[in-house]
Amino acid sequence: MSAPPPVAIPLRLSEHLAAPVEPLKKGDPCTAVILGAGGDLTRRKLMPALYHLLHDGLLHDDFSVVGAAREPLTDQAFRDRMRQAILDSTEVGHVPDATWDRFAQRIHYVQGDMTDPAFFAAVSARVAEFEKESGRPRGRLFYLALPPSVYATAVEHLSATGLVPRIDDPAQRPWARVIVEKPFGSSLATARALNQSILKRLAEHQVFRIDHYLGKETVQNLLVLRFANSIFEPIWNRRHIHHVQITAAETVGVEHRAGYYEQAGVVRDMFQNHLLQLLALTAMEPPVAFRAEDVRDEKVKVLRAIRPITPATIDDFAVRGQYGPGAIGGLAVPGYRQEDRVAPNSATPTYAAVRFLVDNWRWQGVPFFVRSGKRMARRATEIAIQFQRPPHLMFQNGGRSFAANTLVIRIQPNEGVSLCFEIKVPGVDVKMTSVQMDFSYANVFGATDHSAYETLLLDAMVGDGTLYARSDQVEAAWSIVDPIVQAWSAEPPRDFPNYVSGSWGPGAADAFIARDGCQWRQP
Ligand code: BG6
Repeated sequence: MSAPPPVAIPLRLSEHLAAPVEPLKKGDPCTAVILGAGGDLTRRKLMPALYHLLHDGLLHDDFSVVGAAREPLTDQAFRDRMRQAILDSTEVGHVPDATWDRFAQRIHYVQGDMTDPAFFAAVSARVAEFEKESGRPRGRLFYLALPPSVYATAVEHLSATGLVPRIDDPAQRPWARVIVEKPFGSSLATARALNQSILKRLAEHQVFRIDHYLGKETVQNLLVLRFANSIFEPIWNRRHIHHVQITAAETVGVEHRAGYYEQAGVVRDMFQNHLLQLLALTAMEPPVAFRAEDVRDEKVKVLRAIRPITPATIDDFAVRGQYGPGAIGGLAVPGYRQEDRVAPNSATPTYAAVRFLVDNWRWQGVPFFVRSGKRMARRATEIAIQFQRPPHLMFQNGGRSFAANTLVIRIQPNEGVSLCFEIKVPGVDVKMTSVQMDFSYANVFGATDHSAYETLLLDAMVGDGTLYARSDQVEAAWSIVDPIVQAWSAEPPRDFPNYVSGSWGPGAADAFIARDGCQWRQP
């Protein structure tokens, strides 16, 4: 019999911690240039994030942003579009005129074809104008919001025009940096080639490979939880932890991205980047300092300790799935194969569950079950650490089973941390039930519309790469997922679609985790 759901005990913030905290950093003087500013990312994430940074006083007074895209637009027309985008973005809500005016005068537009050297010359002229007006050295930040196929060419042009010269000393001013969007390659070989091409022209510290998961508040909190508290680290190992479950469940389907997703599938789309980042942060050794290189060194070390999965062992380590028709929130939704621009016999997995084993002293024998799927029952991303059960249980509990202690880090939604433990139910019998000590960000700090992109853009402006992926880390992650992708494409699935939209994934995934005596959580 399964244990009853735990009762929640909310946690409050102690008063000395509730005091307002002064911002620790502010962007350097700089010009940010978004290459590919006509796309969704600029409207939905980048401009709202920059607006918010300005609103919160985190941008330097000496800051301009240039949108660059193919469409002919005046500065004013681009500003009007961006105002609408900020209004539409769920993260802002309303735009006070005074703040907007301060932001609008910093927004500019350059039109052109991103493969044409003349376009880069036009950007160069515009950037030089701002630098001249400003009368002091200004950094340059280029955001490649472009199709991945042109990342390498864009960097070549940026380098050839002198917009982003190679700078070997990270302390040199003014600086020049490039943010590269995901996906970074589509395999180990392509990621390696892209790294080589970029690093021929730029130094590693100039390259910011973005993974928006790392900007999420609770993901950063994982480091604080582990390394700013003394109670967790002594039990954060194979002696006390039975297994770890990392879930990224989405209710959305493939949306309008079938062109990309048909080629990518869930392993490239979610595992290579976001999920392996979460695993690395959960499993890594304590870094010696909260500095980019120290944190990233530890992350790479743990990724390298993951036991390789091979085509011969794939069935012991992974299960794949694809959603069929079903219902989400009471509304009927089509199956993946019925989505626009998806092949009617598509073999692309929209769900995967993988058992990762980390071959080092801390984690020997502790499985990390990692799963992600589209069109699942609920939207929930979390890391659940399940501790060992007591070695001997002296309580009878009326023959009922009881839950193992579990620490859950909720990444989204309802960001927070909870600890599930057993207590005695009041009364003459010794009956146990599970309760949860629950810390919720919203209850303690109130609702916040701070987005991951704000954190990450500000970090790039101050040259902090801690929350960005380094070249070796990206390659280590590809070498873990490549064999899974290859094994699955060599062996077409026989049972797709194998889960109903609105469910918790294929039945095979339940049998898969049960082999280790575990059960999936339903967040
Ligand atoms: C993106 C993937 O990187 O992350 C999408 O390409 C996915 O397929 C998204 O939906 C999930 O991000 P979030 O922040 O909504 O969890």
